[in-house]
Amino acid sequence: MISAADTVRPWSQRPWAVAPLAAIALAFVVFALWPYASLDPGRSRIPPPADAPVYYPLLVAHVVFGSTAMLTCCLQVWPWLRRRHPGVHRAVGRLYTFGGVIPAGLLGLTLGAVTPFGPVIRASNVLLALLWLFTTTAGYRMARQRRFVEHRRWMVRSFALTMSIITNRIWAVVWFLALSPQLQTTFGGNEALMVQAIAGLSGWLGWTIPLIAAEWWLDGSRARQSVRERSNSRNVRPLAASSASSGAGRQRSPCC
Ligand code: HEM
Repeated sequence: MISAADTVRPWSQRPWAVAPLAAIALAFVVFALWPYASLDPGRSRIPPPADAPVYYPLLVAHVVFGSTAMLTCCLQVWPWLRRRHPGVHRAVGRLYTFGGVIPAGLLGLTLGAVTPFGPVIRASNVLLALLWLFTTTAGYRMARQRRFVEHRRWMVRSFALTMSIITNRIWAVVWFLALSPQLQTTFGGNEALMVQAIAGLSGWLGWTIPLIAAEWWLDGSRARQSVRERSNSRNVRPLAASSASSGAGRQRSPCC
């Protein structure tokens, strides 16, 4: 049932606002995990190199930590949970950082440096892993220093990179459909070359577009915030002196 408060609350503040995102993330995690749940290297989507027995356990660990990052990330961007349960937000944030991004990113960096899909995706994977680790640790440090505006900005970038793995897979399907008919022409019948082209295109487009979109959104939200602040300062100027002495102007929520 929709309450009276829900009719005036912005959509993003409602308790169920995160449901569509969570459903997509959950579907992706189920899709990502199932071939690895059996721990049978024969079912891996990436054939493990015969001369590197450690590759498969590292890949499985990466998938498990990556899934943790993706699911916890959905909770972290949920405004309702942040406002109502800041303690849960802090606990899940630690899990996102230390039980998700950091181990998954370090493993992604290692696997990315030895990827069998060629140099173009190798460069993409290594840069993505470094940016993922950097944005997340920067966001975590900002929260520890109670610099919540910067914390939010870094974590929006981290979120975009976490979720970019979904757009990566969508691009892979798009490029497979677009390039397969060109196997005999553009790629001279060389299937490995075509697979490298698909992986490279999907890898780069997968994360650069979400990161640009996140920057664009952050710029817009900064502009909206300064418009709000200007109009608030015009409206409350006569009360400013009494508010300052009573501390009423302080940030209500400790975070985000
Ligand atoms: C954002 C930083 C990430 C980086 C740099 C990264 C990197 C990699 C690399 C290098 C591989 C091996 C394939 C290859 O050589 O290209 C891989 C595989 C994989 N990664 Fe990630 N990854 C990241 C995030 C994630 C996340 C958040 C998930 C969520 C579940 C995930 C799920 C998987 C899966 C399932 C595979 C195995 C391939 C497949 O079955 O589709 N990764 N990743």
